Amino acid sequence: MSQHFQHDVLVIGSGAAGLSLALSLPGNLRIAVLSKGDLANGSTFWAQGGVAAVLDDTDTVQSHVEDTLNAGGGLCHEDAVRFTVEHSREAIQWLIDQGVPFTRDEDADPEHPGFEFHLTREGGHSHRRIIHAADATGAAIFKTLLEQARQRPNIELLEQRVAVDLITARRLGLEGDRCLGAYVLNRATGEVDTYGSRFTILASGGAAKVYLYTSNPDGACGDGIAMAWRSGCRVANLEFNQFHPTCLYHPQAKSFLITEALRGEGAHLKLPNGERFMHRFDPRGELAPRDIVARAIDHEMKRLGIDCVYLDISHESDTFIKTHFPTVYERCLEFSIDITKQAIPVVPAAHYTCGGVMVDGHGRTDVPGLYAIGETSFTGLHGANRMASNSLLECFVYARSAADDILTQLEHIDIPDSLPSWDASQVTDSDEDVIIAHNWDELRRFMWDYVGIVRTNKRLQRAEHRVRLLLDEIDEFYSNYKVSRDLIELRNLAQVAELMIRSAMARKESRGLHYTLDYPDMLPEALDTILVPTTYAD
Ligand code: FAD
Ligand code: SIN
Repeated sequence: MSQHFQHDVLVIGSGAAGLSLALSLPGNLRIAVLSKGDLANGSTFWAQGGVAAVLDDTDTVQSHVEDTLNAGGGLCHEDAVRFTVEHSREAIQWLIDQGVPFTRDEDADPEHPGFEFHLTREGGHSHRRIIHAADATGAAIFKTLLEQARQRPNIELLEQRVAVDLITARRLGLEGDRCLGAYVLNRATGEVDTYGSRFTILASGGAAKVYLYTSNPDGACGDGIAMAWRSGCRVANLEFNQFHPTCLYHPQAKSFLITEALRGEGAHLKLPNGERFMHRFDPRGELAPRDIVARAIDHEMKRLGIDCVYLDISHESDTFIKTHFPTVYERCLEFSIDITKQAIPVVPAAHYTCGGVMVDGHGRTDVPGLYAIGETSFTGLHGANRMASNSLLECFVYARSAADDILTQLEHIDIPDSLPSWDASQVTDSDEDVIIAHNWDELRRFMWDYVGIVRTNKRLQRAEHRVRLLLDEIDEFYSNYKVSRDLIELRNLAQVAELMIRSAMARKESRGLHYTLDYPDMLPEALDTILVPTTYAD
């Protein structure tokens, strides 16, 4: 039997964005935080390098802004960049106050408390400005925020709850438009429950799982982007998929990232013969922004017909490597790679969704009552290529800004006491789950082959043709069978893939992460690719 719940705030996602928002709201609000797997299953837990912020007295807001604009290929919204960077110090202070155990600088001068934490460096940054917890920053942040949320009786943390679709006034045929909550699959009961809420927050992460090879955990399926799109929200710049240059290349090492901080601390990229090559592509060498490094690696792999390149930090001392990169060291050792002595085999993999649901400075989407924060959103910060470690920063800054906005509206918002239950009367149990598995593999493979690091018109047309076929098949399946997590994710992935392909086809130039052989040059004017939904899904 399905159930009905009512909350002041429904947060779909328990990563950096969702937990920060819940913790930034007062204790008298009833808040539900949903995760479709266990609470740690988002990308946040796996973040390695750290959080970019202006913390050192020799650094400036202007410098961080300029680096972000340069990495973003002319497409960042300067107001969003400035807003984020100006709030960076305060966001980090908030994390420190929550108890995040950032790595301290052993050489810190006790007379200057602003310098007590170690700052590392990553691609595109002209200063050391990445605060981190060794090379497992995401886990440290996640555990701290979760612990804080567990101590708050007004926050319900609900695992294994998969949001299926948003409930909007328009969809129900009511007056005006407003998000009223969401239908949510409880994986334990198999029922789709109704969650009514005065404010609904999409904090559901990115969509890198649309690609065959990715650094992301399994849930990164773009659910929030697809749900928002189906509810009438515009999406922007979905052609900008970031490929992280260095993921471990090993048949048994699924999705393991080798943090950019290794290059920040002096690691070299090498060909199998030991030759360094990055200086041939950019004077900044290994510390060029990610789009340039990933494309250079892709180019060298294709030119030489090799399966991977190598990342070498073995010239640093054993102690330095083990202290700064204990996670990478241990993980590589599991595959018999001793990084204090050997170079690490690496390849690029899909890492970050720069586009997403369009929002304003408070995370407000086009549908009143619906907010999007974190990787799901498009704030304008990242432009055509996200600079390293700006993503977690965006999660914290916009979560706090959305919370502020909710507080200004609380008094005026009421929603209907009862909402219709999910209608499962027309569907039965599926007898052919092989379709889901097959379509999942097919989608991710053609996205990798046709909508990857280097694109062409022909490849995009092929991808478009295939995704349309898949969408038809998935829609039919969705109309006839009971929903499961796999089906919900496949439906959303296919939807987001279609939006990515459409966006890529609309961009007749090469800029940042979008590189096409048919239009290799950058156009003089930098414009966002904005897609506007025309229909509502049923
Ligand atoms: P996530 O942390 O991905 O959380 C998404 C949440 O949404 C999860 O709880 C998930 O269960 C839930 N969810 C999704 N769909 C549904 C649904 N339908 N129903 C219910 N719940 C749902 N960025 C940096 O700035 N610095 C770094 O050092 C860094 N390192 C990274 C390393 C790795 C390996 C990866 C993968 C990413 C890294 N990034 C880094 C990027 C950064 O970690 C992410 O962009 C960020 O953590 C996203 O946070 P989020 O809160 O938006 O989403
Ligand atoms: C990394 O540690 O290399 C990831 C940093 C990021 O994605 O911002």
